[in-house]
Amino acid sequence: MIRKAEPYRIKMVESMQMISREERQKALQEAGYNPFALKSNDVYIDLLTDSGTGAMSDKQWSALMLGDESYAGSKSFYKVKDAVSDIFGYEYVIPTHQGRGAEQVLFPHIIEHKGQYVLGNMHFDTTMAHIEMNGGIPVNMVIEEAFDTLKEHPFKGNFDLVKLETFIQEKGKEEIAFIIVTITCNSAGGQPVSMENVRGVKKIADKYGLFLLFDSARFAENAYFIKRREPDYERLSIQQIVREMYDMGDAFTMSAKKDAIVNMGGLIGIKSSKHKELFQASCATCVPMEGFVTYGGLSGRDMEALAVGLHEGLDFDYLESRIGQVEYLGEELRKRGIPIQWPVGGHAVFVDAKKFLPHIPPEQFPAQALTNELYLEVGVRAVEVGSLLLGRDPETGKQKVAGAEFMRLTIPRRVYTDRHMDVIVSALATIWERRETIQGLDFEYEPKVLRHFLCRLHPIENGAPGSLIDVNPMVP
Ligand SMILES: Cc1ncc(COP(=O)(O)O)c(C=O)c1O
Repeated sequence: MIRKAEPYRIKMVESMQMISREERQKALQEAGYNPFALKSNDVYIDLLTDSGTGAMSDKQWSALMLGDESYAGSKSFYKVKDAVSDIFGYEYVIPTHQGRGAEQVLFPHIIEHKGQYVLGNMHFDTTMAHIEMNGGIPVNMVIEEAFDTLKEHPFKGNFDLVKLETFIQEKGKEEIAFIIVTITCNSAGGQPVSMENVRGVKKIADKYGLFLLFDSARFAENAYFIKRREPDYERLSIQQIVREMYDMGDAFTMSAKKDAIVNMGGLIGIKSSKHKELFQASCATCVPMEGFVTYGGLSGRDMEALAVGLHEGLDFDYLESRIGQVEYLGEELRKRGIPIQWPVGGHAVFVDAKKFLPHIPPEQFPAQALTNELYLEVGVRAVEVGSLLLGRDPETGKQKVAGAEFMRLTIPRRVYTDRHMDVIVSALATIWERRETIQGLDFEYEPKVLRHFLCRLHPIENGAPGSLIDVNPMVP
C-alpha cells in the first residue's frame, strides 16, 4: 500500500539544534539522569510526550482572535459545548486546564468511600494518583496480550472481561466506584480498545449498575484503529464510530492536549440529566479548583482553538498520516531487530527495554537507562513507562514491578517529518550494537508521589544493586 503524504503544507517553522555529545553528557548529569529535568533547548528531537506539543492549524490560529475573555458565559465556551454535543452527544460540559484538572474535579464525586476500587484497562499515572488521593484503589485489567510485545493482537488495550466480572463478584458491586476505559490505552503502548470489548464492558457495567467513564485523551486515534481493524467498521466514519462508543458511557474526562491538538485544555463531559446531580456537584468543585464553570482554567482563545481542534482531530486523512508516521518508525525499528510493542499504537512507539537490556533488573529501571542512552547518542528525549513510573506499593513501600518496561517514543502531532524518524532509527540501531555496556540506575532523590517526574538518579557502577529499593516506604 502506498503511504499518502501529509494532508497539509508547512506554513511556519521553528528552528532547532543539536548540542554536542559533551554538552549532552553534562546536561543529563545536571538533570539527575531524569530527562524530565532537561531544558528543551538541550533537546534535539523531543519525543517526551504528544501532550500539548502538536502544531495547531491555520484555522485554529485564526480562531484565537475570536476568543471571548468574559469571566462568565463566554461565547467561546458555548462553541466547545456545541462541539462536544455534536461529536459525543453529551449534554453537560465542564472545561478544565488539562486532563488531570478534569480528574481532580470529577473523581471526588464518583468515589463514594475510602477503599473503593476503580477498575480500568490500564490507568494513566495522573488518573491513578487522583484515584488514590480520593481514597480509591486503581486496578488494572488489561488483557495479558498487552504484556507480550511480540504477540500480534489488533486491540491490546482491551479489558480482560472475565477478570473484570470476577473481581466485581468477589468484592461486591458496592466496593466498585466506577469502571474507566482508557482509549487508546496509553500505558499499554497507545493500544486501542475495540468496540466489541467496550460493548462487553458496558454489559457488565449495566448488570452491576456501575458508572462507566471514558478517559478520552486519544479518542479519535482509537476510532481510527476500529475503522482499520474491526470487522464491519470500515464503512463507518470516524465520527460515527466515536458516537457509537460514547453512547455506551456515562461521562468522560479528556486531556484535550492530544487528539484535540491544542497546547492546553481538558474537558469533563457528562452524558445526560440522569447524572445532573453529578454535574452540579462537579461544577461546585470546579469553581475553587479550576475556575468558573464556563472557562475552567482556560482563556477564551484556548477554548476557540479547542472547539476547532476537536473536529480537526476526527479527519480521516490526518489520522491516516499521523498514525502512518508512527507505524513507519515502528516498522523501521523492527527491520533492525529492535524489540518494540507490536503492532505499534497510535501516538508512540514503545521500545521493549526488558528485551533490549535484559541484564538490567526492573528495580534499576532498564527503560530509563535506555532513554538516557538515546539522549546521549543523538539528543532525542523519550520517556520511561515502566517500573520507575509505576512506583512503590503504598502499603509496603516496596518497588512494584511493571508488566512491561517501555521506553516511549512519543510523536507530537503534525510536528516532525519522516527524516526525523530516520535519525531516531539510526541512533537506536547504534545503541543496539553496544547494549551490553549500558548500566542500570539508582535513586539520589525519590519523591513520594509521581516520583518519575521529579526524581534524581545516578548510574550504578558494575551493576551493584539499588541501595534504596524496598526502604523509604510511602505513608499510605
Ligand atoms: C490517558 C491519559 N489520561 C489522562 C492524562 C492526563 O492529562 P493531562 O496531561 O492533560 O493532565 C493523560 C496525559 O498524558 C493521558 O495520556
